[in-house]
Amino acid sequence: MVSTIPISDRYRLKTSQLDMPPRLLLGPGPANVHPRVLAAMSTPPVGHLDPSFLTLMNEIQDLLRYAWQTDNELTIAVSGTGSAAMEATLANVIEPEDVVLVGVKGYFGHRLVDMASRYRAKVHKLMKPWGEVFSLEEIKTGLEKHRPAVLALVHAETSTGVRQPLEGIAELCRQYDCLLLVDTVTSLGGIPLFIDAWGIDLAYSCSQKGLGCPPGASPFTMSSRAVDKLHSRRTPVANWYLDMGLLTKYWGEERVYHHTAPINMNYGLCEALRLVAEEGLEQRWQRHQANAELLWRGLEELKLVSHVDQEFRLPTLTTVRIPEGVDGKAVARKLLDEYNLEIAGGLGELAGKVWRIGLMGYNSRPENVLLVLEALAQVLSRR
Ligand SMILES: Cc1ncc(COP(=O)(O)O)c(C=O)c1O
Repeated sequence: MVSTIPISDRYRLKTSQLDMPPRLLLGPGPANVHPRVLAAMSTPPVGHLDPSFLTLMNEIQDLLRYAWQTDNELTIAVSGTGSAAMEATLANVIEPEDVVLVGVKGYFGHRLVDMASRYRAKVHKLMKPWGEVFSLEEIKTGLEKHRPAVLALVHAETSTGVRQPLEGIAELCRQYDCLLLVDTVTSLGGIPLFIDAWGIDLAYSCSQKGLGCPPGASPFTMSSRAVDKLHSRRTPVANWYLDMGLLTKYWGEERVYHHTAPINMNYGLCEALRLVAEEGLEQRWQRHQANAELLWRGLEELKLVSHVDQEFRLPTLTTVRIPEGVDGKAVARKLLDEYNLEIAGGLGELAGKVWRIGLMGYNSRPENVLLVLEALAQVLSRR
């Protein structure tokens, strides 16, 4: 008979209740969540085919359609983080040898390139310096040159703090007969976004930023044009878990088991989306804009320079240049250790050059802006 290894021998003894520090999360996400979302998540789970859960799934779909301003039938929450929903968009419409054009102007553009290549697309990149946006002319030139089946763009680049304008791009995509795929991870619930009016064919997002829920259930939507491409595939979707043909049998009328949905994540997402609807999208967008402007004015007073021109600056995520001679990592660490306040450093090309300050969802509030400005002022003055 094999005897169990006592917990104290091999593992560090952890038998007391979970105890995590009370952080204020003002980085690129996750953000703090509304107490109602946390309460919803601690509701005892029902079964994943329980009639009450199926009703909740329908409600999530309707609320997502509202948050995204779309009538797309295929609108669901993917079980997983934003990257899972990102992969779902690519996996369902790419077939080997399809040409995919990705607008790369930051870290997440590169991730799209990497993922699309793994589905054996012929991937071309449209490049732009980190902190800038693509013009319609540049996109038209890219479409003309590469004639892609899919154009993929990041609406809100979390690595740079840039908002890519999307108006007019779908018209170009129709002209060149290609699908428009958009990453809305740092835009949904925080800045104006109109899936149908802007002609977006595929979009994904996450739960942990503008929607104000922990990470783990990620919005996904697909237009009828994209669904047509899915239905006319010559090859099966090369990812079983994210195959919308299978997933819609669970989220749609048939209600066939596919995988066990993360029940409590969906409780949280549903409550977060109810909060979005209660507040109203326009009010929510205005709140994010007003609090971001308060932050930008305060940063200017601290003589800190924003990395992005105001016209294209994201209200959900601000990139601030780290002043000469300042150890950006050490400052962020002090904010965490002394103020329980999280901000982040730069990613990729902007590593060591900027701080990233997020004001997302429940966290986009004036008191949080004043707190981060005061804490930054104190830490910088003590150097
Ligand atoms: C723009 C963008 N796309 C995709 C992702 C990936 O999402 P996740 O980390 O939830 O998998 C992120 C995460 O921050 C992001 O900011």
